[in-house]
Amino acid sequence: MSRTEIKTVEGTFDILPSRFTKPEDKHTHLERWNLVERTAREAFRRYGFEEIRTPIIEKLELFERGVGTETDVHKEMFTFQTKEDGEVLALRPESTAAVVRAYIQHYLSNYAGLVKFFYIGAQFRHERPQKGRYRQFGQVGVEILGQSDNPAIEAEVFEMLDWFFKTAGIAATTLLLNSVGDENCRPGFIAALKERLGDKLPHLCQNCRRRYETNPLRVLDCKVESCQPYLNDLPKITDMLCEACDTHFTQLRAYLDERGIAYTLQPRLVRGLDYYTRTAFEIIGLSNLGSQNTLVGGGRYDGLAEILGGPKTKGFGFACGIERMVMSLPESVIEQESPSLFIAYIGEAARSYSFALARRLRNAGVSVVVDLEGRKLKKALAVADNIGAQYSLIIGDDELANERFTLRDMRNSQQQSVTEAELIETLK
Ligand code: HAM
Repeated sequence: MSRTEIKTVEGTFDILPSRFTKPEDKHTHLERWNLVERTAREAFRRYGFEEIRTPIIEKLELFERGVGTETDVHKEMFTFQTKEDGEVLALRPESTAAVVRAYIQHYLSNYAGLVKFFYIGAQFRHERPQKGRYRQFGQVGVEILGQSDNPAIEAEVFEMLDWFFKTAGIAATTLLLNSVGDENCRPGFIAALKERLGDKLPHLCQNCRRRYETNPLRVLDCKVESCQPYLNDLPKITDMLCEACDTHFTQLRAYLDERGIAYTLQPRLVRGLDYYTRTAFEIIGLSNLGSQNTLVGGGRYDGLAEILGGPKTKGFGFACGIERMVMSLPESVIEQESPSLFIAYIGEAARSYSFALARRLRNAGVSVVVDLEGRKLKKALAVADNIGAQYSLIIGDDELANERFTLRDMRNSQQQSVTEAELIETLK
């Protein structure tokens, strides 16, 4: 009986060594993922961040209160009810709310100074899949929580992002920067915005008309072509900031200038989550990502901890989409992750010797694959080629007798005769 094959869920994919996948499916190449995650970890280490791992499932209420119910992210959540008690849970659509929940739950406000967390993990949103947009996607991100809202916090994070992008070989990015004010100045801006939008409403798209009622700030973010002429001359939030927000924004820009970090002011940048106050930003890639070219999104969220039932806390952070980073990496930075040595053998004595030699080499830190299938020499070497081994070693009776081995460099086919000690030296 033939059975139908079961494939991955729409908008999700396997990540595996690139030799098993199509060259153009860069987002699935394991080497690229590892490079992004390794580079991110190194950036976080250098800037003094500690890791946090929160669960993938949380109570739905966390995100309802966290990201807001009138947001796209809220609508796109994967939710389900537990069988036993009917509790409604959600797969995390983002990690900021979860990290703030953890900060509250573990009383981290009792610790002096800023708590600087980073995370690397999968997020889930039921979006319409397309290139650069998936239903399960990876994020690396940071959240800085504590009592200070000094803009030096933001400036240092932008410096770290700069290092991260340069080290990953991604040169062409633009930092879009805005301030969305706070509870003092935003209501006045929203009132002014609604007033100006009032007579334009009939010309705007359905989404804008809905947002005008539910979340007027988000009208600014509309990408629909026909809306643009009506949105360009709206009031700018940065012209209406209260004194404290204005000072914060001015200071942040001065810190960025001091560090030589370029940015573009983008007064219509409001972001798709409700928790932001003051600084909001995105980093746009200039490469091959099409419409899904936002690599990083983030900002300040000073009231979020209180919304989640915690103490008064200031917060700032970002999340970077791993797929979009992965697809932006230049070919030159990708390192092949293949074993250093493949060992083939001829005969029973050589087999036993090969296994012992492999163990000694592995104990010395060398990555070794031995032919476990007892193949004929030619086939064994074809395997060595296939897995991309850097060197291969053939062991037969002569090699055993002389205790010298022929080491073959698989890239240029050059051979040299080596002792075991020399072998270890070369491979390490
Ligand atoms: P976000 O803008 O929703 O912000 O997502 C951040 C980044 O995640 C995006 O810029 C994009 O690179 C990636 N991303 C989002 N959705 C998808 C998707 N469906 N497929 C592929 N990549 C995607 C947040 O998540 C906030 N938690 C960021 C933050 C942290 N704000 C403060 N702290």
